[in-house]
Amino acid sequence: MNVYDSARMAEILAPLGYAPGDDPEDADMVILNTCHIREKASDKVYSELGRLRKIKDARAENGHQTVIAVAGCVAQAEGEEMLRRAPYVDIVLGPQTYHRLPEMVARAHRASAAGNRAGGVLETDFPVESKFDHFPPKRSETGVSAFLSIQEGCDKFCTFCVVPYTRGAEFSRPVAQIVAEAESLVAGGVRELTLLGQNVNAYHGLDDGGHEIGLGPLARRLAEIDGLARIRYTTSHPRDVDDDLIAAHGDLDALMPCLHLPVQSGSDRILEAMNRGHDVESYLRTIEKLRAARPDLAFSCDFIVGFPAESDTDFEATLDLIRKVEYAQAYSFKYSSRPGTPAANMALQVPEDVKDERLARLQALLMEQMNVFNETSLGTTFDVLFERLGRHEGQLVGRSPYNQAVHVTAPGYAVGDMASVFVETCKTHSLGGVLIEDGRPVPDPRAEERLSA
Ligand code: 5AD
Ligand code: SF4
Repeated sequence: MNVYDSARMAEILAPLGYAPGDDPEDADMVILNTCHIREKASDKVYSELGRLRKIKDARAENGHQTVIAVAGCVAQAEGEEMLRRAPYVDIVLGPQTYHRLPEMVARAHRASAAGNRAGGVLETDFPVESKFDHFPPKRSETGVSAFLSIQEGCDKFCTFCVVPYTRGAEFSRPVAQIVAEAESLVAGGVRELTLLGQNVNAYHGLDDGGHEIGLGPLARRLAEIDGLARIRYTTSHPRDVDDDLIAAHGDLDALMPCLHLPVQSGSDRILEAMNRGHDVESYLRTIEKLRAARPDLAFSCDFIVGFPAESDTDFEATLDLIRKVEYAQAYSFKYSSRPGTPAANMALQVPEDVKDERLARLQALLMEQMNVFNETSLGTTFDVLFERLGRHEGQLVGRSPYNQAVHVTAPGYAVGDMASVFVETCKTHSLGGVLIEDGRPVPDPRAEERLSA
C-alpha cells in the first residue's frame, strides 16, 4: 500500500512542478514513506533521516533548498516527537492526509523563507474528507500490472498490530470511484489489478444505488471491464471470507486462483490472545470451502512466531497447521513488540533466541512447501501475462496465475500480451517455459542452439 500511496503523492505533487527522481542529492524534496508494522522497519527511518540531513546541509551550502517530508505510519505514530528529534524535517504527515501535500509544501517554503527553523508542518489527524476524493482523475503510472486501493484501515485490533492506530478505522471507497480508477488504468494499458486494503475483504463500499456491496460483487463488477485480464487482492482476513467471495472464486476466470489468507498462528490459545476472532478449525473450514469452489486455489499466509507466552506446544501446532494446508508461499516474522499495542504489555515475552530458532524451523518447512508447489507446475500449461523483457533476445518475463515469474522465449509477443505456456524448468524464484501454439509446445530455439553446440 505504501507503493500505491507513494505513486499518488507523486501525482498530487506533479502540478507543482515536481517529478519523481532517483537521487536524493539532486532532489528539491525527499519524501520518506514509512512503515511502522515491526520495530526493524520503524528504526530505519531515523538512520535514513540522519543520512538525508547531511545531503540537505551539503545542498544548502551550494544554495539549494531541500524539503524533507516523512509520510506514512511512522510519521503518524511519532507525530510531534519526530519534529523534536529531527528538527531538520520540514513536514510530518500521516497516511490519511497526503492529499493536502501541496498546501503543506507551501507552508514549509513560507517557514523556511521566514528563517523559521522550528516551522515544521505536522498533519497527522484523521480528516473527515477522504483523500481518495482529491486524487487527480488520471493515474500517471504505466505498466501491465497496477495496485488499486479499495479499502483502508482496520477495526479488528489484533493485540500485536499497530495498523488500527496508524491507518485508522476501516474505510471502503465507493464502487463508482474504484471502477473509474480501474477503467482509467486499463485504458492506459494495465491488464492486471491488485486490489489493496489492510483488510481488503472487509470491503463494504456503496454502489450507485446507495447499497453496500462486498468484495465478491465488486470483483464481479471489475471483471466486466473490457481488457482487464486479471484481478488479485490482498490482504484478507479469515473472518471476512463470505459466501459471495467464495462463489466469485468459483465463477470468475479473471479472479486469480491464489489467495493470501494470514492465520498468524496455529494455536487456538495464541489466536485468542491475539484477538484474531477465529480459531484453527474455522480457518481450515474456510480453506476447505474455498478449495471446493476453486480446486486449483493456492494459499499464501503470514505467520508470527514468539508471540508472548507462545510455548513449544503452541509453536508445534503452527507447524501442524502448515502441514495440513500446504502453502504455495508465505511470509513469517518474529513477534515485534509495538508500543501502544496490548501485546507489548503482556507477560512472558519470548526470548530472542527462542524466536530465532522457531523462525528458522518454520521457514524451512515453508520453503519446502514452496518448492513442492513450484515443482508441481512442471509439465503443466498455464496462461502467462508478459510484464517485461528478459535478458536474452526474444525472451519475455511474465507471471503465472499464481504470480510466479516465468521466463519464456516468445518472439512476436510483446509486454502486455498473454500466452499459453508449458512449464519445463523450475528454480526457487522462477519458472521457465515454452509457448504452446495450436495445442503443441513451440520448441525454444535457444535450447536447440545449446544442444547443437
Ligand atoms: N510483530 C511481528 N509481525 C507483525 N505483523 C503485524 N504486526 C506484527 C508485529 N507486531 C505481521 C503480521 C501481518 C503482517 C503484515 O505483518 O503477520 O499479517
Ligand atoms: Fe493488523 Fe490485520 Fe489484525 Fe487489522 S486484521 S489489526 S491489519 S493484523
